[in-house]
Amino acid sequence: MNFFAARSYLLCFILMYSYGQLLPLTSDFIKQGYVSEGMDEGVFAVHILEIKSLIECALRCGMNLLCNAVDFCFLDGLYTCRFRYGHANLSNTITQCEVYEITASKDCPDGLFLRAQGICKINTDECQNDPCLNGATCTNTPGSFNCTCDAGWTGIVCDEDINECLDNPCQNGGTCSNSDGSFTCTCAGGFTGALCNEVLPNIALGKPAAQSSTFLDSNAAYAAAYAVDGNRGTDVVVDKCTITRDGDTNPWWRVDLQAVYNITSVRILNRGINQKGKDISDWLRDVTVTVGLTESDVNTSCGFFAGPGNASQLVVIDCPTLPQGRFVKISKTTEHLILCEVDVFGVPG
Ligand SMILES: *[C@@H]1O[C@H](CO)[C@@H](O)[C@H](O)[C@H]1NC(C)=O
Ligand SMILES: *[C@@H]1O[C@H](CO)[C@@H](O)[C@H](O)[C@H]1NC(C)=O
Ligand SMILES: *[C@@H]1O[C@H](CO)[C@@H](O)[C@H](O)[C@H]1NC(C)=O
Ligand SMILES: *[C@@H]1O[C@H](CO)[C@@H](O)[C@H](O)[C@H]1NC(C)=O
Ligand SMILES: *[C@@H]1O[C@H](CO)[C@@H](O)[C@H](O)[C@H]1NC(C)=O
Repeated sequence: MNFFAARSYLLCFILMYSYGQLLPLTSDFIKQGYVSEGMDEGVFAVHILEIKSLIECALRCGMNLLCNAVDFCFLDGLYTCRFRYGHANLSNTITQCEVYEITASKDCPDGLFLRAQGICKINTDECQNDPCLNGATCTNTPGSFNCTCDAGWTGIVCDEDINECLDNPCQNGGTCSNSDGSFTCTCAGGFTGALCNEVLPNIALGKPAAQSSTFLDSNAAYAAAYAVDGNRGTDVVVDKCTITRDGDTNPWWRVDLQAVYNITSVRILNRGINQKGKDISDWLRDVTVTVGLTESDVNTSCGFFAGPGNASQLVVIDCPTLPQGRFVKISKTTEHLILCEVDVFGVPG
């Protein structure tokens, strides 16, 4: 016996007759194979070897820093040497010897999982402490847990807000505002839905229209009806837009929606550059939109566009107070109100 083996044998002897006597295996340990229910930390490991002699066991235990107790069994002519690691409340003495497989990496008993070679751990249910936040679903996993986050949240415990606005989710010119776990789209006029991807019906289309005066009245080429004819071209000559007469310094245009609505927004499609290349699209400025229940009183404020407009601009005028009315009026206080199309949006009121 060389020195090392002798030292190990001595250690083994000490272990057997100190730890081995004072901290024998519990019956729980035997029952469960790997883990004692009374353990301090829920971690216990056992390493089983088949050996030829007690000395070999002592040698191996002595070489293993974690080994704090050994047991021996004599089975079918072979010693089974069992190392124990970890801490346990080991108060019962065992009398019988269990047959273990040679490898310590065999499957752990029910309810335990293999954390490392030879180490089984109780699979405690971490979900009982509700670690997942903001409505997330917790799934217990061996040694841990997994949070499946609700929409709008991320992170291991779903505590981090996703800024959905970074992906520009709001369509058709909608404005995005992020909030914890969510976001909101404020839609531009004419659109609705959570992502502003639904087109609102234009309640002015084809409805009776009137205006304060008509440019070149004789052939009515610029009559009020052309603002609700569905033609969205912006060449005033080719595409038929409304124009009020020279000298009319308080021009207005008015549509009869033929039913009462709460108006949400009005859109004006401004004229384009004319055939001579002249751009007078900036004439669309200081435009007031009002709403009324009767033709003679269309005075409820809806919205205002200071302008100036530019060529073929689709001007959106929101009506934040959702005024109620059957008539919608567009007016300004300088000459020439020119409208290539007017869209009105609202909800039945
Ligand atoms: C250890 O086990 C004994 C017997 O089952 C028990 O009375 C004692 O409270 C336990 N000690 C600890 C610290 O768990
Ligand atoms: C956690 O759950 C997600 C979603 O169900 C899944 O993709 C992922 O693989 C899981 N992770 C673990 C470690 O189970
Ligand atoms: C309402 O508008 C009409 C013209 O549409 C005008 O004659 C009348 O004075 C206005 N009434 C009020 C209270 O502003
Ligand atoms: C027209 O005006 C709008 C609003 O000011 C602006 O966003 C747009 O770029 C302008 N278009 C042109 C062609 O100048
Ligand atoms: C419509 O307008 C009327 C009068 O301002 C108001 O009482 C009503 O609540 C509005 N309805 C909607 C749906 O906004």
